[in-house]
Amino acid sequence: MSGIAKFGTKALHAFPPEMAHGLSLKALKAGLVPVPPLVPDPVLHTTLAGLALPNPVGLAAGYDKNGEVIDPLLRLGFGFVECGAVTPRPQAGNPKPRVFRLSADRAVINRMGFNNAGLVALKARLSARLGRPGIVGVNLGANKDSDDRAADYVTSLTALEGLADFFTVNISSPNTPGLRALQSKAALDDLLARVMTAKAAAPVFLKVAPDLKEEDLADIAASVIEHRLDALIVSNTTIERPESLISPDRAEGGGLSGRPLFERSAALLRAFAQTLGGKVPLVGVGGIEDAETAYAKIRAGATAVQLYSALVYKGPGLVAEINRGLAERLKADGFASVSAAVGSEL
Ligand code: FNR
Repeated sequence: MSGIAKFGTKALHAFPPEMAHGLSLKALKAGLVPVPPLVPDPVLHTTLAGLALPNPVGLAAGYDKNGEVIDPLLRLGFGFVECGAVTPRPQAGNPKPRVFRLSADRAVINRMGFNNAGLVALKARLSARLGRPGIVGVNLGANKDSDDRAADYVTSLTALEGLADFFTVNISSPNTPGLRALQSKAALDDLLARVMTAKAAAPVFLKVAPDLKEEDLADIAASVIEHRLDALIVSNTTIERPESLISPDRAEGGGLSGRPLFERSAALLRAFAQTLGGKVPLVGVGGIEDAETAYAKIRAGATAVQLYSALVYKGPGLVAEINRGLAERLKADGFASVSAAVGSEL
């Protein structure tokens, strides 16, 4: 990573986390984030649910909630960018402070609560960049005070059709009371039936929580196959607090992400890979912080990966660093492509 990018990342830690996040968005917008360009490597080209990706390393939802810096993010070398979560109506989210750096644990706790500028604002931004290159998805959420949450997903999907390359039905955020109940069999089947009936061309992904029980896993896998979802993203943040956490803010409420989420989310990914048996592609998310952890998710069954928290600690140069390391590892292990390595550990 360039010295300036490294310095910038360190300097941001002098600010409270949400202010640092806002400053990083401003810096990206202003073109102030100096990152050496990623040299494209054909071994990294891959396909996710029919989408051609230059590399398998994506930005996870929640960083660019309003689609403000999609193109600068793509220029950092991400193979795809997921913006959102968007809700039909704008909402303020939870009171601040609502995001915490657990530096000693290389983790983050957030209870943002789907703060976002709403569907109309995101639609304008996506419309303005229509035709530009890069794979861009939208993470869909529901308004906190919605009477019919399933309808919120349909509303956003319908309004944004044609403006994004994929949509993610996010029912796994821990910060909207009751949202995760949509993961239970009857609610999920109703939701997915309505979403998939409304959908037109773009693939639709489902994003699940890492805190699922053994018995939920089989139900979700069955629903994903029955309703012909195009991919499953594993996983969102956890409400569990591993014993290993040592940071002062470890007891804050919300979802935990970063290094302490790696094992749990990788185990769930592996379990879904085994249950789905290649019928639905998987996206591995949770605690990816270097090429080794990205490669581990791929070998555990992920067609592509996403990350967020590690950017807080390692800065924007991380994307190119992971891609370079991934290419090296694939070649060293004799894989001709990313897809050849998917699930190789299973
Ligand atoms: C998130 N995440 C998230 N996920 C989602 O589906 N919709 C969202 O709006 C958000 N918002 C959000 C905000 C903040 C501040 C964080 C840290 C995370 C979860 C994120 O996409 C990812 O699934 C987890 O953070 C796990 O990946 P990492 O961070 O361990 O790489």
